[in-house]
Formats: sequence, structure tokens, C-alpha cells
Amino acid sequence: MSVNFMPLSPKILETIAEQFPVNDQCFYLNHAAIAPWPKCTRNAVQKFAEENCQTGAQGYLTWLKKEQDLRTKLARLIGSKHQECVALVKNTSEALSLVAYGLDWQIGDIVLISDKEFPSNRIVWESLVDKFGVIIKQVHISAQDPEAEILAAINSTTSKPKLISVSAVQYASGIKLDLAKLGVACTANDVLFCVDAIQAVGAMAFKCDEWNIDFAMADGHKWMLGPEGLGFFFVKQQHIKNLNLHQYGWHMIEGAGDFSIKSWQPADSAKRFECGSPNMLAGYALEASTDLLLNIGLDNVAQAIEHNHAFLLNKLQELGAEILSPINPMVRAGILTFRFAGVDSAVLYRKLMSKNVICANRGGGVRFSPHFHTTEACMEGAVKILQSLL
Ligand SMILES: Cc1ncc(COP(=O)(O)O)c(C=O)c1O
Repeated sequence: MSVNFMPLSPKILETIAEQFPVNDQCFYLNHAAIAPWPKCTRNAVQKFAEENCQTGAQGYLTWLKKEQDLRTKLARLIGSKHQECVALVKNTSEALSLVAYGLDWQIGDIVLISDKEFPSNRIVWESLVDKFGVIIKQVHISAQDPEAEILAAINSTTSKPKLISVSAVQYASGIKLDLAKLGVACTANDVLFCVDAIQAVGAMAFKCDEWNIDFAMADGHKWMLGPEGLGFFFVKQQHIKNLNLHQYGWHMIEGAGDFSIKSWQPADSAKRFECGSPNMLAGYALEASTDLLLNIGLDNVAQAIEHNHAFLLNKLQELGAEILSPINPMVRAGILTFRFAGVDSAVLYRKLMSKNVICANRGGGVRFSPHFHTTEACMEGAVKILQSLL
């Protein structure tokens, strides 16, 4: 099989060959759901398991160091100089809930989301309606000018939202928002800016500080190449102490680890959102995955994803697919959703899965989501199978 990574250097190609075993029986195009692990991540978990089996927590201080490394690397991955602003959380939904139930609400406060959010970034806000009289507004986003309606709402003088919460990249269509533009508008209008970053972090350079993001969150199992159940929650410094807390425990206080402290206070950092023992096993895994992504370089990752997106787009158009994702490279990321006239996409998806083309059925079509390491051979194989099913 020929492998062609136009945008990547020989050194990166070597790392890819080392880290991602080629399985020519499995055409994996589902990183927007759950990504396969690189070898370094598997090795980290194996090592941790072996250590636990042999010596239990004897090396606990090393574990704490690893946890600290993870925080540092996550901060770099999301473009923040402030690792004290990063908490380790179970998943995106948990972090969104920390924001929604951490803020003080007045009757009539408006939360703005798009009309295409993954349920995690809708349900949590809707849950505030009956409890606090919050109003949820959903705005339409289009591939042509996805920020237009959001910006109009932020700039509104009569119904300005208190907070907007949007996905950096939409899970079904793959529409990518210009977060820099939204951040400027939010800051100018005193609107809180919350970003569900799960479909973006690990797939592109992300810039929490530069884009003026107030809150961002993602679980690690998609583009970050980690396991499910461990993610990050970024809280801009000025909000850390303003979010009301609803979970308490030994781990989240200033001076955690000194069990004799009688008079305690929550940590000054985002650690106050981590009430108890961390998920060390997942931490070892995510640290290894994050380290790999940082070494590859997020601009390289994004360029390779763009290359793979263009490659698949071209092949799918040749087959006559209707493309449901944006065509414009400025508005697209790793997600490519399509359908064929007269073909039931749910049926096509099931047939593809039965032939080991690992994909998803989303947004009225079949969703392909290649990562930077996906080979052209893998994509060609998937398209060949797709063709045979039409
Ligand atoms: C945009 C988006 N947000 C959130 C999630 C998942 O949320 P959680 O990490 O809470 O499972 C997904 C999963 O597909 C997603 O696509």
C-alpha cells in the first residue's frame, strides 16, 4: 500500500509509522467519536498497570509528577500560559455543568447556543430554564457565514446574552467557528464565552488565552487520542473564584494532602474543581497522547488533517456524493459528512461498519473523520468499499 503524507516531514512520518500500527483490515475514519490510541499511550497504560500490580502505589510521588506534567501539557495544547487555570475533569458534560451551575443567574438571563450543538452543550443550559428562569436562544449557523447570527446576537442592544456556549467544530456538519472573532465580540460586549472544544483540541492549534475564552472543555478520547473519562476544564483566571462550588473533598483544598488541616479553603487554582482522587490511569494515558501531539506540532496536525479531508472530499465527489460539510477550508476541520441521493444513510453506515469501515451516522449522512496519521491507503480502501456498496 502506498502511503503519501504530502504536508509532513520525513521525521514526522517516521513517528507515525512507529506510533500507529497499520491495520489494513480496518479503515478507521471515526476520530470525531473515539480515536484509537497511539502505541506510546498503550505503553504508558501497560507500564502503569504493571507497576500497580507489582508495587501498588509505592511510586505515588511519581504519579503526582505525571499528573502535573499532564496539566502543563494540556495547558500548552489549549494555548494557555496558565496551567493553574486547568482542571482535570471526567468529561465535557461535567465541565459544562460546572459552568452552568457555578454562575449566578437572574430571571431572564439569556444563554446563546447554536441550533446544531451536541446534546451535552444544550441539555445543561436547558436545565437552567425551570430552575432559574434562564432563556435559551438557539441561533442558526451556516457554512457560508457561521458566525453571522452569533455576532448579531452578541451585539444586540435589546437581548444581549449573558453567555454564549458553542462548539469550536460542530460534531455533525464539521462547521468550524472563527473563535478569535467571537472572542473579540464577547469581550467588547461583556458576554461570557464558553467553548465546547472536544472536536477541535488535538486537531488544530487552540488558543484559549489569545481568543479570550472564558471557559473551554473537552474529554480526551477524540482528537486528543486519549481514553474516555478524562478531560480538561479551562477557566479564565478571573472566574476561578467566582464559580459556585457544588462538590467538595480533600483534594480541592489549599494544602491538599495535609490531612490535619482543620480550617480549610478551596484551592486558588482550578484544582478547586477536582474534589477527590484523580484518575491516574487515564492520566498516564492522556499525558502520553498529549505529549505525542505536542511533539508532532498542532500546525502539522491541522495541515495533515486538511490534506486528508481534501483527499476524501475529492474521492467522494467523484462518486457523486452530496457533501453536507463545508467545502471552504477556512470553515472545515476533521469532519466530513456526506450522503447519496436515493440511498438511506443509516443503512449505508451499517453496511460500511460491517465491512470494517469505521465511521458514524450523523447529521443525516455518513460521517468520516480522519486524523493526521490516517493513511491515503486507509482512505482509498474505505472509498473503494463505499463504492462497492452503492
Ligand atoms: C461537540 C461534542 N461535545 C461533547 C461530546 C461528548 O461529551 P462528553 O465528553 O461529556 O461525553 C461530544 C461527543 O461526541 C461532542 O461531539
